[in-house]
Amino acid sequence: MKSQQLRQLLDSLSLDEKIGQLVQLSGEFYQAQNIATGPQKSLGITQNMVDLSGSVLNVTGAEQVKRVQEEHLKKGKHPIPLLFMADIIYGYHTVYPIPLGIGATWDPKLVEEAYHNTADEASASGVDVTFAPMLDLVRDPRWGRVLESTGEDAMLNSHFARAMVNGLQKDLPNGRGLAACIKHFAGYGAAEGGREYNSADISLPNLKQNYLPAYRAAVDAGAKMVMASLSTLNGVPGTGDQWLIDDMLRKQWGFDGVVISDYASIQELVDHGFAQDREDAARLAITAGVDIDMKSPCYANGLEQLLNKGRISEEKINQAVWRVLSLKNDLGLFENPFRGASIERESHSILSSDKRAVARKMSQEAIVLLKNEDEILPLAKQSNKKIAVIGPYADEADLIGLWAVHADRHDTVTLADGIKEKLNDSYYSISKGTDILRDKKFFDQFGTAEESVKRSISSNEEEMKQRQKSLKNAAKSDIIIFACGEHPLQSSEAGSRVLLRLPQNQVDLFNELVELQKPIITIVFSGRPLVLTDLVSKSSALVQAWFPGTEGGHALADILFGDYNPSGRLSMSMPYIEGQLPMHYDHLSTGRSEETSQHNSRFVSRYVDSPSKPLFPFGFGLSYGELVYSKLVIERSQLKLGETVESYVTINNIGNYNRYEVVQIYFHDDVASVAQPVKRLVDFKRVFIKAGETKQVKFSIPINQLGFYDRKGNYQLEPGTFTFFAGSDSMAMLSEQIELIQ
Ligand code: GLC
Repeated sequence: MKSQQLRQLLDSLSLDEKIGQLVQLSGEFYQAQNIATGPQKSLGITQNMVDLSGSVLNVTGAEQVKRVQEEHLKKGKHPIPLLFMADIIYGYHTVYPIPLGIGATWDPKLVEEAYHNTADEASASGVDVTFAPMLDLVRDPRWGRVLESTGEDAMLNSHFARAMVNGLQKDLPNGRGLAACIKHFAGYGAAEGGREYNSADISLPNLKQNYLPAYRAAVDAGAKMVMASLSTLNGVPGTGDQWLIDDMLRKQWGFDGVVISDYASIQELVDHGFAQDREDAARLAITAGVDIDMKSPCYANGLEQLLNKGRISEEKINQAVWRVLSLKNDLGLFENPFRGASIERESHSILSSDKRAVARKMSQEAIVLLKNEDEILPLAKQSNKKIAVIGPYADEADLIGLWAVHADRHDTVTLADGIKEKLNDSYYSISKGTDILRDKKFFDQFGTAEESVKRSISSNEEEMKQRQKSLKNAAKSDIIIFACGEHPLQSSEAGSRVLLRLPQNQVDLFNELVELQKPIITIVFSGRPLVLTDLVSKSSALVQAWFPGTEGGHALADILFGDYNPSGRLSMSMPYIEGQLPMHYDHLSTGRSEETSQHNSRFVSRYVDSPSKPLFPFGFGLSYGELVYSKLVIERSQLKLGETVESYVTINNIGNYNRYEVVQIYFHDDVASVAQPVKRLVDFKRVFIKAGETKQVKFSIPINQLGFYDRKGNYQLEPGTFTFFAGSDSMAMLSEQIELIQ
């Protein structure tokens, strides 16, 4: 539809019809299958508003979408198609590793391809918009939603933000793309204490330096929608933050797309003590610039009254409606309200072999090898050594994490499936050993149905049998693979934890296995960095698998048996102990740094009962074989504003394996008017290097990227010296200095 026609449509709408466009409801209002992603309450809105609503939450499937759309178009004076929005966070039916695993790939190109595939799958099922990517920077793994983030670094997150948006929206014009709704704007990732839905307090320089860049990158890449955060930032709830939405996002960044609230978050403005009542909440949200009210009655019941009382202008409503109609128009819904929805397409697209192949590649790249003593890995496919695969994840299909809500875990390749394809039957055994979690209280707190609790927790007798079987298998074996991890319910939304350990029943089994004094290769499945300190010291090898997705079992077996040389590098620090949290590699130096302070050992910045360093730092990960960083060369040591730092890093693969290496460049602004992080990632390259090969990896870094934000939030780049570091993780030690002169 031409812009002029769209304008005419807007002008012809009644107030009710306009308000309807700003209301989003979930499946049960359309007699459609509903996935609950928030508290279920009856909304208390009129049937007329339901009939006029503009968008739907989490209704998918070509057949169902078509039916709902057809019925909707029969209602109302002006048939305006519904927008179908859904949470498709890291894959639709073909599920990738959780985003924290995606972050560990350091491979934005592959991520773009994967999200392009996701858009193809989900658009075939009638989805128009996905509530992804989540771009919240994270520093505290107690927060369950670290699962949804690509990690703790602003620059790395920005690369992934662009890749995900580009992949999702690439085929938007021809009906096979998805509009990206980036979220949760902004600062939700800094929830205090890592406690879900808690408030965040972030200084202006920190916000601009770390928390906003990924959003900015996604907006610049053309993301069509933004979701406001349901949390508060410096006391102001995201849903009512005019400074963030109207001033920064729209006016400064030039975003002209749709802003949506989070689930019920407009009405929660009352609970925050920010709004007087629901009508006031509607006023605050629409004034801040929130266009769509997701699952709350505030806009449906409040906007007309506010208008009649003169507390908001009709222009404000018109602007919001215009943005919603424009999105529908950009997606071509007025010409074809069903867009890509097609049962035929679904059958070709969903879980096709080429999509599975990309998922397998992504899982391979996401898995991080953290320890490999005496090069116990890779295992030989043909050897007379007996392998016992033991643990609750040995043959578990739930490898997709809690937020893959549209996928079916039965489509997953388990670890056992993967191993079976590599080995002859006689060389291995598989046994569960124990349940993932045997804490009934844990399940009860979510009101989990008795039947599914029974499915998760075996009887004491069954548990005992499993344990004995696994100990017998272990005794007969030469090598143990211990597949352990947290329960999917322990991470993701509303999955905050204070103790980031394996469930005790798994620890007990592990310790029994340790007593057998056989080499143990531990594989950890989790939605977050766990505290692995004890596990690491008692294992010969340790593999961090995250929730690796549909093809997880294949990818793990590829790594265990050397068909893929692990290349994953942590995008989030792994704590030594929970009491260190929050932690991040790019912290400021203190006046009394542990390493460089002149003070005697008591009066330095450290803990008296724990190391202050992480167990594994940001950027860390092992590969098979050995590689050395031999040289960092910077072409010119004095530069002026606007110039580029040209540098080379020389790496030598002195091992026997071909591999990928993620060459990482960090810098430190040596003296600045605001103290600067000890190191900040400024560039990286993922390069393939053959055994025996030497490579020079070139970096061109615009000097203007080395600036920082001052206390007023202004970007500054001050003359002086900067130290660059090159290496394989954030402890990178090769260094060179340059000087920025005026
Ligand atoms: C949730 C989440 C958000 C999600 C939304 C819709 O509560 O915070 O990430 O997109 O509801 O399901």
